[in-house]
Amino acid sequence: MSAPDPSTAKPLLFQQSRVGYVEIDEVDLPRTNAASKPVIDPTPEQRYLFDTQGWLLIPGLLSEDEVEEMRAFCYRLHQEPESLPEPQRSPIGGPLEELTDHPFIVGFMNEFLANPDLSSQDCYGFRMESTSLAMRQTGEGGFGPHNGNGLWRLPGDGHNYRCVPGKARSSLTCVVWELNEVEASGGTLFINGSHKAAFPLPAGAQNLDSDLWTRYTCPAGSLLIFAESTTHTASPWGSTNHERCAIFSRYNYVDSKWHKWQPHPEALEAMPPKRRTLFRPVHVEGNLI
Ligand SMILES: [Fe+2]
Repeated sequence: MSAPDPSTAKPLLFQQSRVGYVEIDEVDLPRTNAASKPVIDPTPEQRYLFDTQGWLLIPGLLSEDEVEEMRAFCYRLHQEPESLPEPQRSPIGGPLEELTDHPFIVGFMNEFLANPDLSSQDCYGFRMESTSLAMRQTGEGGFGPHNGNGLWRLPGDGHNYRCVPGKARSSLTCVVWELNEVEASGGTLFINGSHKAAFPLPAGAQNLDSDLWTRYTCPAGSLLIFAESTTHTASPWGSTNHERCAIFSRYNYVDSKWHKWQPHPEALEAMPPKRRTLFRPVHVEGNLI
């Protein structure tokens, strides 16, 4: 008997609440977002990198025009929030709402978070659960390593990472839109592969200059995604040219939530129906819109 071809072999996933395996080829996750834009699936390389590193960078995903408009909104939100109508006073307000289900976000979450039983062409199989704006001046950003060991954490902790051959689930997942360039220092730092680490964090990792930490640089408009179960930390913002202007948003399974954040009800009401499914109640039973 010949060995299965790894490029076409399918993972074996148990069906939810029933006996048997999921028919992978019949799973029909959303192919467009709420703005009818085609979903962008992660490439095999991106999928592999995220699964092995615990984080992934997509440099320059947004166009210059998009970055300019979104960054202007962030500065206004930061500096003069009262100039915005109350429902828009958040990092999903104005032009930023489009980021919540950006085509790459949908493609990525389809791969690493979506529950096929709670997903259709009109309903996302995952949720968005929080968002915040990080506007950091030179020197701001505290070093504080946290999380790690996700593969060995029990469900309920919120920071677990699970995988079988051919499929991975990242649990609480952080999305960072970098709207200003990230130069040599000041972005989020990671310990590669620590979401699967079997050992506790070594004492040396408490030093910002330890070689255990991996840094990235990127142009404005880049997207960073990481499993919260990966050991990570903020670091002091080094640039004297501009602030860090980053939107941190978290995504999760339909039936799990870590953060207390909720979107403003009027902002939610004004969204297209498919986008609203990102913010539906946190449960499984009957939760397919
Ligand atoms: Fe964190």
